[in-house]
Amino acid sequence: MHYLYAKDFAQWRAQARDMLARGLTPLDVAWEASEQQSFFTATLPPAPSSTIEINVPKTFLALAKTIACHRSDKRWDLLYQLLFRLHCGEKNLMHIPTDPLMYALLRMHKAIRRDAHKMKAFVRFKKIEDESGEHYIAWHEPDHRVTPMVAPFFSRRFSSMRWAVITPDDSAYWDGETLDYGPGLTRDAAPSGDALDALWRDYYRATFNPARIKLKMMKSEMPVRYWKNLPETKIIASMLAEAPERVEAMLAHTQAMPDSAESFLPVLRDLAHLREASKGCEGCELHRQATQTVFGEGPENARLMLIGEQPGDEEDKTGHPFTGPAGQLLDEALTFAGIRREEVYITNAVKHFRFLYKDSFRQHQSPSRYHIQACKPWLIGEIAAIKPQLIVCLGNSAARSLLGSGFTMKNGRGILHPHLPPVLATYHPAAILRAPAQERASLRTFMFDDIQHAARNINADSGNNKHRFGIE
Ligand code: URA
Ligand code: SF4
Repeated sequence: MHYLYAKDFAQWRAQARDMLARGLTPLDVAWEASEQQSFFTATLPPAPSSTIEINVPKTFLALAKTIACHRSDKRWDLLYQLLFRLHCGEKNLMHIPTDPLMYALLRMHKAIRRDAHKMKAFVRFKKIEDESGEHYIAWHEPDHRVTPMVAPFFSRRFSSMRWAVITPDDSAYWDGETLDYGPGLTRDAAPSGDALDALWRDYYRATFNPARIKLKMMKSEMPVRYWKNLPETKIIASMLAEAPERVEAMLAHTQAMPDSAESFLPVLRDLAHLREASKGCEGCELHRQATQTVFGEGPENARLMLIGEQPGDEEDKTGHPFTGPAGQLLDEALTFAGIRREEVYITNAVKHFRFLYKDSFRQHQSPSRYHIQACKPWLIGEIAAIKPQLIVCLGNSAARSLLGSGFTMKNGRGILHPHLPPVLATYHPAAILRAPAQERASLRTFMFDDIQHAARNINADSGNNKHRFGIE
C-alpha cells in the first residue's frame, strides 16, 4: 500500500495520473489526511516510458474539482476510484447515479453546493473605516472549503468595494481589481481584531478613493430596477447622504439574493437531470412567489427549439410551458408551418412566473434583464442537451438572452442569425394577443411566416445536429 497526501486538487491530480500510469489500483493507494502520514510501504512500480492516455469525460473534471472542496478525508480515495473505473472502460459510470460510488460522490457534491449557497446568502460584511478609507470584512465558518468557489461571486457582486472574507480554512481578499487568497484565521482575528485590521491595511492602503468607490458601489450593488422611476441625479445625491446603516441594509439585501441558477445545475446535464434539479432552483427571487418551476418540454433529439419568455398564470399552475392562450396561438403557428408540437422542444428564458397581485388577480410582469441572466444557465443547459438544429426565440426576452441586449424586433426579426445553432427571432404570441386589433392580423402573419421559415431551414433527414453546437 502506498500512502499519499494532496494539499489541493492540482496535487491530487498529478499524483493520481502518476499512480494510474504505474498501474496502481484503488486498493494499492490511500490518500492520508496529513502530510506526515504519507509514505510508501514498497517500491513503486516503474512509470511507463511514454505518457499514458487518460480519457475521462469533461464532467469528471467539474465533479472532481468540486469534490476537492469537501471536508471528508475520503474525497481523494473516492475520486481515485472513479478515475480508475472510468479509465478501465466504465464509460457510462457517471450516468449511473445509483452506483454506490457515484451515489456517494453526488451526495458530497450536493452538500458542497448547498454550503456554497449558504455562504452567498449568509455572509454579512461589517464596515470598517480607518485613515485609508472604508472596507468590509466578514467572518464565516463554512462546512466545506468553499471559499474559492464563492469568492468570485462576491467580487462580481461587490466589485467596487474592498472586502475580505475570513474563514478558519482560508481567506479571500478583493481590492476592487484583484482577488487574492490567504491563510485561514481564527474568529478573534475577525472582523474587528487588530490583527485583521493590520492585514487589511497592508492589502489596500494605496488605492482607495472613497468618493469614487461609494458612487460606483451604489450603481453596481443597488439593483437598478429599484430606482428606475426616480431621476438618477436625485437618487445618487440622496444616496450619498444616506446613513451608513442604510448602505449596510442594502448590501445585506442584495447579498441575500444569489444572482444565478448556475450552482443549482446538476453535475450530469442530460435533460432528465436538468429538469429534476430545476425544481429546487433558488437562483433568483422569482422562485419565492411562483408555484413551481416550469421547465422545457419536448423530445431530447428535437431539431427545433422554441424559447418563450416565462411561464404565465396558466403555466405556473399546470407546470407545463405554453398551455395558456399564448400556447394556443403558438400551436396554430406550428400547424401552419407543418410541424407537430410533439416534435419540438419548447421552453422559456425564465422558468418561474413573475407577477404582481392586483386585487386578487395575478398580473404578469415581464422578467428583468437580471432574471433572464440569472436563469440563463438552465437555458444553456437545455440547448447543450438538445443540440437543436435551429432555435426560434419568441419575443424580446428570449432573443436578448441569446442575441444580446442590443437586439430589436425591428432589425432582427425573421432572419437566421449565424450562431451555432442558428437563431431566428419573431414576435411573442402573447404580444400578438395583446396588440391593438388593427395590428394583430399583420403581426400574426409575420409570426406564422417566420416559424414557417424556420421549419424550412431544418434538415429533415440528418436528425439533430449533435456535432454543431456553440451558443453561450
Ligand atoms: N408565455 C411564455 O413566454 N411562455 C409560456 O410558457 C407561456 C406564455
Ligand atoms: Fe431559478 Fe430561473 Fe426560477 Fe430564478 S427564475 S429561481 S433562476 S429557475
